[in-house]
This record gives sequence, C-alpha cells and structure tokens, in this order.
Amino acid sequence: MIHSSSRIYYNLFLRFIVLLLHYVPPTAATGHWSLLLPTISISAMHMQLLPNDRIVIFDRTDFGSSNISLPAGKCRLDKNDMVLKLDCTAHSVEYDISSNTIRPLMVLTDVWCSSGALDSTGSLVQIGGYNDGDHAVRVYRSCDYKCDWEEMPSGLIQRRWYATSHILPDGRQIVIGGRRQYNYEFFPKSSQSEKAQILPFLVQTYDRWIENNLYPFVFLHTDGNLFIFANNRAILFNYSNNQVVKTFPEVPGGDPRNYPSSGSAVLLPMRIVQGNIAVVEVLVCGGAPKGAYTNAKHGNFDGALDTCGRIKISDPYPQWVMETMPTRRVMGDMLLLPDTNVLVVNGASSGTAGWEHGRNPVLEPVLYRPDNPIGSRFVVQNSSTVPRMYHSTAVLVRDGRVLVGGSNPHQKYSFTNVLYPTELRLEAFSPSYLDLNLSGLRPKMLSTVSRTQFRYGKQMAIQFTVQDRVDMNLILVTMVAPSFNTHSFSMNQRLLVLDDGNTTKFIGSSNYEVVVTAPPSSNVAPAGYYLLFVVHQDIPSEGLWVHVE
Ligand SMILES: *[C@@H]1O[C@H](CO)[C@@H](O)[C@H](O)[C@H]1NC(C)=O
Ligand SMILES: *[C@@H]1O[C@H](CO)[C@@H](O)[C@H](O)[C@H]1NC(C)=O
Ligand SMILES: *[C@@H]1O[C@H](CO)[C@@H](O)[C@H](O)[C@H]1NC(C)=O
Ligand SMILES: *[C@@H]1O[C@H](CO)[C@@H](O)[C@H](O)[C@H]1NC(C)=O
Ligand SMILES: *[C@@H]1O[C@H](CO)[C@@H](O)[C@H](O)[C@H]1NC(C)=O
Repeated sequence: MIHSSSRIYYNLFLRFIVLLLHYVPPTAATGHWSLLLPTISISAMHMQLLPNDRIVIFDRTDFGSSNISLPAGKCRLDKNDMVLKLDCTAHSVEYDISSNTIRPLMVLTDVWCSSGALDSTGSLVQIGGYNDGDHAVRVYRSCDYKCDWEEMPSGLIQRRWYATSHILPDGRQIVIGGRRQYNYEFFPKSSQSEKAQILPFLVQTYDRWIENNLYPFVFLHTDGNLFIFANNRAILFNYSNNQVVKTFPEVPGGDPRNYPSSGSAVLLPMRIVQGNIAVVEVLVCGGAPKGAYTNAKHGNFDGALDTCGRIKISDPYPQWVMETMPTRRVMGDMLLLPDTNVLVVNGASSGTAGWEHGRNPVLEPVLYRPDNPIGSRFVVQNSSTVPRMYHSTAVLVRDGRVLVGGSNPHQKYSFTNVLYPTELRLEAFSPSYLDLNLSGLRPKMLSTVSRTQFRYGKQMAIQFTVQDRVDMNLILVTMVAPSFNTHSFSMNQRLLVLDDGNTTKFIGSSNYEVVVTAPPSSNVAPAGYYLLFVVHQDIPSEGLWVHVE
C-alpha cells in the first residue's frame, strides 16, 4: 500500500515537473511603435538604408499618380507605362532619418518587384523590374541632398522580375532567377559576351501551377558558396563553376516558403573566434501551405504556416530542426537586430502574397532569441495598429529602431472602398532594448567620426562610455550589413559577432575600451559598409558606420 501511494505521489511530482518545464510565463508585450510620418506619399515596396542614414524607397512606376510631385516640375513621358503615359508624380523617395523628411526622386523605368544590393562604395545597385524596367540596372549613390537615380535600361542579359540579388566576395552582384528565369547572371559583367548560366534547381523547385520559387532566399556561406532556398528546399551552390556542392533535405512538412507562399529567412548571427566561424545557421519562418495560392484566388484564405525550420548549413549532415511560432505568418519580414535577436514583423495569418490574396493581418511582431533553448525563443511584442500586408517592408536603422512601411495589395493606389487600403504611413518599432529606463546601461561610443575604415583581419580599439556599472563579461561587438528589403526578404542581410578576445577594460571616468578584430575575409563579410554596435547586457549602442575593406 505504502509503496504504491508513494509511487502515485512520485508520478504526480513528475507530472508537476513536466508542467513546470512546459510552463511559459505570460510576458508583457514589449517594444513600442511610433508613427514617423502620416504619409511618405508612395507605398514603400522596396527599402534600402544607405551609409548616410537615408533610406531610398520605391514602389512601381505604373501604379498611376502617387501623392507627391516629381522634383522641379519634372514629368515622365513613358509610352510603355500601362497606366499613365505622362506622369508628373514620383515613385521613389529618399527618407532622411535625422530630419524625418522625404524628398521625391525620379525613376524612369519600372522598378516593380525588383532586387538590389549596396556595392562596396555604398551605392545601391538595383536590378530589374517589370515592363520597360525588366532589363534595367539602376544606381543610387548615397550622397547628401542632391543625387537621383542613374539608369542603364539594358544592363541585364535576362529579364529580372522577382529575382534575388546578393553581393559577392569579389564585389560583383549575383542575380538569381525571377519569373520564368531558371538562371543567374552577374553585375557588372566581366566581358561583353558574358552569358546567363542555367540553374536547374529553379526548374526542380518550380511547381507547374504556382511558381513558389520566386525571390529565392540566398545567403553567402562563409566557405564562399551560396546557400539558395527555393520552395521547400535548398542547395549549396558554387556559382563560379555552376556546381551544386550540397543538397539539403526538404523542410519537414514540404510546404512552400517562397513567393507567393512568402515566408522569410535569415542567416543567423555568426560568431567569429580567432578568425573562424564554427557554426553557420539559417532560419526560415512562416509561409503558406501547398495550394494556398490557388485557394486564395478562389476566395479561400488558408491559415498561414506557424513553423520555422532551422538548419546548421556548416554541418556535414545538416538536418532541419522545426519550431513553432506563437502566431501563423505569411509575408512576414525577418530582421537581425544588433543584440543578435531576430525580429519577425509584418504580414498576415492567412492567404498568400499577390493582389488581394492576404487576410487577417498579424499586428504583433515576434522576437526570436536564437541562443535560448527551444521552447523559449519566441517573445510576442507590442502590436502596431497598421496592417502591413502584401508589399510592406522593414529595415533596421542605425539607432536600433526598425522602420516599417508599405502595404498595397492592389494593382493601383487604392485608398478607399478596399479591404486593406494602400498604406502610406511610415512607422518605427523600437525593440525593448531602446526603453528609456535602460539608458544607464546603454553603451555610447566615444568616436567622433561618422564613418571609419576596418581592414580584413586588423584590430580596432573602440572606446565607449556607460553611465552605470559595466559587466565586462557582457560586452559584445556586432556588425550588421544594411539589407535590401522587399517581398518579405532582406537581401544581403548578415550579422557578425566580432572577436574581442575578452579585451574590455576600464580606462577611467565611466569609459571603457574593447579591441575587436575585423572579419577575416570577404567570404565572411563582402567589402562595403556595415553598422557596428557595442552591446552591453543585450542593449546596443547606436551604430557606427564602418567600411570593411
Ligand atoms: C505598448 O504600446 C502601447 C501603445 O503604444 C504603449 O502605451 C505601451 O507602453 C507599450 N508597452 C510597452 C511594454 O512598451
Ligand atoms: C493621396 O492623394 C489622393 C488623391 O489626391 C487623396 O485622395 C488621398 O487622401 C491622399 N492620401 C494620403 C494618405 O495622403
Ligand atoms: C568553385 O569552383 C571553382 C572552380 O572549380 C574553384 O576554384 C572554387 O574554389 C570553388 N569555390 C568554392 C567556394 O569552393
Ligand atoms: C524597464 O521598464 C520595463 C517596463 O516597464 C520593465 O519591465 C523593466 O524591468 C525595466 N527595466 C529596468 C532595468 O528597470
Ligand atoms: C573569453 O571569455 C569566454 C567566456 O568567459 C571564454 O569562453 C573564452 O575562451 C575567452 N576568450 C579568450 C580569448 O580568452
């Protein structure tokens, strides 16, 4: 008797422990939203932060009239424009973060659903689009106040609409796929006769009815190969000799993750220790189940996926590890934050990408903490009030905020009598690390320059001040590449945790110094501008622009 009752108690005790392990405390929603501008006059379909703290924003040229005139009374006469042949309004603007103002820009050819990357000089080299813009390459230099788009209407070999761009270690940009393009090409070309190269993987991942492999998720692996994810699986690819180096397993469940079943993906933060990165991981979250696009066309909006797959692409035999998000999400954006967490923001909980195909906006972002144990990685954040459906965007800026714009699931600008009106508001999400009560712990760099050089493998001493007591074991220095955001994917996004060899030391009167080593090579960090942050107890300083070279 006694024996069996103690067993019952023991079982109850075990059950209690199991409950404890599964218990997730209800956490208060954190972070806060603010409205930056009630209108930026165009819908922010594509956004890129530039190294002068301005954001170049554009939608498409054949949306009809936007809400802002072109500069200096200019007009665009375009016989190819499908809506307005003579359009005196702008479809691109430059947003100045410090003054919170916009300036109209003039883009001539159609930039709709295009791609891009910052080159090593910090200019945006932007690729393709639609109609008269589908072979165009455009450059936007990051200058102060005066610059405008420069266009090369036949810069590309193939039409690139819904393609992905990635900056390469040699400074060129690779452009992969696009509608009915099962190939890739480079910009700039090394010769006039250069041809596009076939990429059979894009044929293999093409579904006869639904593409589901557009805007593939592309990341530069630290071994110099490209990780390319399309539909529900990925390869490791040597673009120099057109060889698939590795084929990764299909994501469990097999549901599609790329446009129009738009999930999102990031290369998780990479830690450099003595010139090496031991683990390289990719996280893919959300999307829409198989058949959802066809169903949405017929007015049935399937629940979006609530799963993420995480894979160590540096492993010899990589496997996907699945996790569940607190909410379903399609058309979400995933952004690397300077504290090494990932913000999942924007999108809807049913339907797919495409005109009028999304329903039930997800207003609350979710934070993913990659270093926490599985089951305690997601934290729901405070909600916005603005639906961010198809064609919405998000970018990290130097002060650690995330700027959110766009949302226009319609063929033109439609402000009334539609389910999700064209959205011109620009908002900022401030993660909780920006809470005012943390300012005593926040590092402030003492550098007086706004940009500095950082040569591969070389050391740099960073001095900073912290008001309150510093825990020197909790200092990190991170470096984030400014990414090109459109259609739920941030191209070229990567975050490095630099090797500081535990050098943080007190140098007098609330000041400290840490010595960090620059990334070892252009495979780890292609040359160009990055934002460098000193992070103390998960609270980042403002960023400093560093030019890695
Ligand atoms: C959440 O947002 C609301 C409205 O902006 C704000 O009042 C509240 O303080 C925020 N909560 C936190 C924890 O930041
Ligand atoms: C944009 O312009 C249209 C037409 O002038 C106007 O009806 C609408 O209110 C404007 N919308 C915003 C958000 O500024
Ligand atoms: C890709 O292939 C070329 C030619 O075989 C080779 O030289 C290069 O090292 C390979 N790239 C990588 C990243 O392994
Ligand atoms: C800052 O404020 C938040 C929200 O009010 C609170 O949860 C947090 O504990 C505070 N942090 C510190 C360091 O005081
Ligand atoms: C720095 O400190 C960490 C944690 O205490 C330790 O694991 C690491 O080996 C140290 N690195 C060096 C270069 O001393």
